[in-house]
Amino acid sequence: MKYLVIYSSRTGNTEKIAMEIFEALPGKSKDIQRVEEQNGEADTYFVGFWNDKGICGGEIMEFLEKLHGKQVAIFGTCGMGEDPEYCRQVSKRVEAFIPEDNRYLGSFLCSGRMAPQVLERYRIMQKQQDTPRVRQMIRSCQEAMLHPDENDLANARTFAREIADEKERGEK
Ligand SMILES: Cc1cc2nc3c(=O)[nH]c(=O)nc-3n(C[C@H](O)[C@H](O)[C@H](O)COP(=O)(O)O)c2cc1C
Repeated sequence: MKYLVIYSSRTGNTEKIAMEIFEALPGKSKDIQRVEEQNGEADTYFVGFWNDKGICGGEIMEFLEKLHGKQVAIFGTCGMGEDPEYCRQVSKRVEAFIPEDNRYLGSFLCSGRMAPQVLERYRIMQKQQDTPRVRQMIRSCQEAMLHPDENDLANARTFAREIADEKERGEK
């Protein structure tokens, strides 16, 4: 198979991005699977995660570590996805799990709505200690409420198409 989109998603944000990437990939030699149900092989992988305390979850780490001789792109959603520097750091941490005998193709991260309990937790924190950091966390949580939005989905499609175009050009 040419393309496999593998993802982990707890509340559906990353799944939305995964489906968009899958749809944008050309041809029929492609599949999309949750990491828990993953089977089969491909030349090129798009591996998606949700940001769990600054990094991907263990199942995505394990999946990435097992890839060898492949082309690998990563994507993800995070509560603080509006902060490009933060996203770069998260990408770097996840990218580090891809063994060096693969070709790394790049990453795409965007904001993803956080579960209401998270905002609740931050508000309780704020009552105890109203620091700039806690205020920033609340702001990020509120900003993420409407994401992933149409713009995020369009950016995810562009990300997938650009990678696919380059791959198809390389095969000619
Ligand atoms: C336990 C937990 C930890 C999280 N940690 C972070 C974090 O450190 N940084 C961040 O930006 N978002 C964090 N988030 C927010 C999620 O990454 C975000 O809402 C993501 O879009 C969820 O994706 P999903 O809907 O595919 O599960 C956390 C969410 C949960 C539930």
